[in-house]
Amino acid sequence: MTLSRMTHCAVRSLWGQSSLLALVLLTCVQAQTPLPQTAVPTLPPPSGLVTAQPIGDSIFPALGQAGLDVLKYDLDLTVDRPGASELRGTVVLTVTATKSLPVLSLDFLGPPVLDLRWNGLLVPYRHDGTAGKLIIGPPQPLLPGTRAEVAVSFAGQVGVRPDPDLPLNVGWQAVPAEGERVGANFTLSEPDGTRTFLPVNDHPSDPATFTTRITVPAGYTAAASGVQRLEKVAPNGNRTFVFEQAQPIPTYALAIHVNRFERVDSPAVPVGVGGTEVLRRDYFPAGIAADTRDAYASTEGVLQVLADWFGPFPFSAYGSAIVTPRVPALETATLSTMPVASSAVRVLVHETAHQWFGDRVTLADWSEVWLNEGLATYAELLWAQAQGETGSEIVQGWYARAGRNQTRPLVATTERQLFDTTAYIRGALALHAVRVTVDDAAFRAYLRGWVSEFQDRPVTTADLLTYTHSRLGARAEAALRLWVESPDLPPMPER
Ligand code: ARG
Ligand code: ZN
Repeated sequence: MTLSRMTHCAVRSLWGQSSLLALVLLTCVQAQTPLPQTAVPTLPPPSGLVTAQPIGDSIFPALGQAGLDVLKYDLDLTVDRPGASELRGTVVLTVTATKSLPVLSLDFLGPPVLDLRWNGLLVPYRHDGTAGKLIIGPPQPLLPGTRAEVAVSFAGQVGVRPDPDLPLNVGWQAVPAEGERVGANFTLSEPDGTRTFLPVNDHPSDPATFTTRITVPAGYTAAASGVQRLEKVAPNGNRTFVFEQAQPIPTYALAIHVNRFERVDSPAVPVGVGGTEVLRRDYFPAGIAADTRDAYASTEGVLQVLADWFGPFPFSAYGSAIVTPRVPALETATLSTMPVASSAVRVLVHETAHQWFGDRVTLADWSEVWLNEGLATYAELLWAQAQGETGSEIVQGWYARAGRNQTRPLVATTERQLFDTTAYIRGALALHAVRVTVDDAAFRAYLRGWVSEFQDRPVTTADLLTYTHSRLGARAEAALRLWVESPDLPPMPER
């Protein structure tokens, strides 16, 4: 069958409403199985009739699809050559919708698509690697309350997405072999790098659960967000690891690592929901300096102090995976990504706090990222105070630093503002401004309540203002509002 006839079939599948046409499509597609890679069904060019509306993020207006709700990503990945910018595998997305969706639109800058199935059937699709969209034509619209399984297989070079402000590409990191060190890979995806290697609804307002199965060559260890369920060795020495991330997380928070690791297990810590045990494991690359490990000896204490302030740890496992390049640390869920050069307790505290703020309580819009960064930075003060410090030096240091930098209202308006001093430092000071209006018991209940009330619906600054008013009253809300809205730096918060 020629490509043009395939497209014809594809078009009919999209527009054909009757079951007769669906049957025609089925016949023509099945006659093609297995499809040669060059003749997969493709969608017709975009038409006014079928358009997918993005989520409408104020910083990244093209990301995601409005009305799409991915419940689960089931990943089966293989890394053939650790250290290369490539990946192959299959992702099965379990999807539902909050409004009728005639097409599905996933974010995907990544490797070429080899095969795509909707509930097991080949369906037409169009992968625009430049726009970073994979548009899929289901046999019939995805309706609210219904579910579908969409399986996407791909292989090859991952996509490229330059970081908003650092000299790196977010997404699938390739660390080439150097000297004694073997090649490695890891994810570093905030804000929208996951789409460089997986087809996803790449927005924090649509968190989902993940099962990650990953196969690596002999001698390598894979690690990923969640609890490890399986480790098996094939006759050729290839190793397969399976991880279950049972609580929903935003796509950028997915950790995947491939390296020659030493995995170090430590006693579980009973800080989970209802006092359940949180499994403890850290991954150290072979050959790093021994003192790199020192900071991680504090992990149990950090979990205890933060759980005391924020409530139960939201996931079933926690630890760090250490990486060798100089990149920012990242709060990947259950497994913080910690560069050797940032292996300090303060950074560990920050990333651990993000497990609650960012990973469990997720953002409705990227402009609200100060809610993540302000709270994670504030945790650094809470930790210092738990070590017996007054914390006043830290707060004064923050205020001086905020004063030396340009300031702005807390809600970001540009991509460059996402991770600036305002998001981190002015964000932390805004929380301090709330704290000084009440006593510590009230502030603790306030932080815990923010997690328990908002862990299942993405948050905005407006939510925090309303919540602050309802929990702590008008004075606390006014203090917060000043720090949120003032174009200038408000006065130092004092009791
Ligand atoms: N959320 C990370 C942290 O503060 C920072 C990520 C910075 N990312 C970036 N793309 N510049 O822990
Ligand atoms: Zn942070």
